[in-house]
Amino acid sequence: MKSFVEIAGEIAREAGASISEFARRRIGFELKGAYDLVTEADRTSERIIVERLRQHFPTHAVMAEEGGGNDGSSEYQWYVDPLDGTTNFAHGFPVYNVSIGLARAGELIAGVVYDPTRDEMFQAEAGSGAFLNQQPIRVTPTARIDDSLSATGFPSRKRHQNINIYFYYQLAMTSHGVRRAGAAAIDLAYVACGRLDFFWEFQLKPWDMAAGCLLVREAGGVCTDMRGAPLDLNGPHVLADNGALHAAVVELFGEIFAGKQREPLPQ
Ligand code: IPD
Ligand code: CA
Ligand code: CA
Repeated sequence: MKSFVEIAGEIAREAGASISEFARRRIGFELKGAYDLVTEADRTSERIIVERLRQHFPTHAVMAEEGGGNDGSSEYQWYVDPLDGTTNFAHGFPVYNVSIGLARAGELIAGVVYDPTRDEMFQAEAGSGAFLNQQPIRVTPTARIDDSLSATGFPSRKRHQNINIYFYYQLAMTSHGVRRAGAAAIDLAYVACGRLDFFWEFQLKPWDMAAGCLLVREAGGVCTDMRGAPLDLNGPHVLADNGALHAAVVELFGEIFAGKQREPLPQ
């Protein structure tokens, strides 16, 4: 019998192939709200994933971003982002992915992030490690923020209510850089495989984080909120890091939350 993660990987690959087909045709987009895009590729990918999950696991609950899931009362809960990085996709900026996570009784047990542009399949199962195209992956050993490369993101919705620009500024001034590539699940997968040392963001949704956070943990890293408290997929923010940097990043974030600035704004 195939494992959850194998089946989720096959489904993500099929959904990713459909997204690539839309990318070749350069389709247009619609607005869900001001600056919040959705495309036919999001909806088609979601239809594929939800239908396949229903075929394999008819009793499982499925939460999917574009609303195609079901509210079943199973102890198994899937989290589906059919196209993470829609704004990138709609502009032809090649950083987007399919993200599928699974929790059992509230604990993350399987996660898949598939990048169809690079044909990179990130997979993790609780207790079994994390893999990129079947090869084991590991977080970095970086222990000083000064030596780090990190990533963050900004929501498309209610951007004016987001305080992340202060966090971005402080981190950009005291490290090798902060990337903002526009696909949260890829950012998390990159922490897991050591391309980034840590990632944080405000106001993500469960489907953005479920798979990626399991990848980070299974690669030896830590996934909490930005104050270091246990991660809540419905919570206000997330921090995923290599473990070695955790205490230093939580301390710096604590200062920024308190209104202190290590690096003053330029005059
Ligand atoms: C978005 C991306 C982006 C993040 C936003 C998310 P979507 O997801 O992950 O990187 O900054 O907060 O909403 O809408 O493209 O699936
Ligand atoms: Ca997303
Ligand atoms: Ca999405």
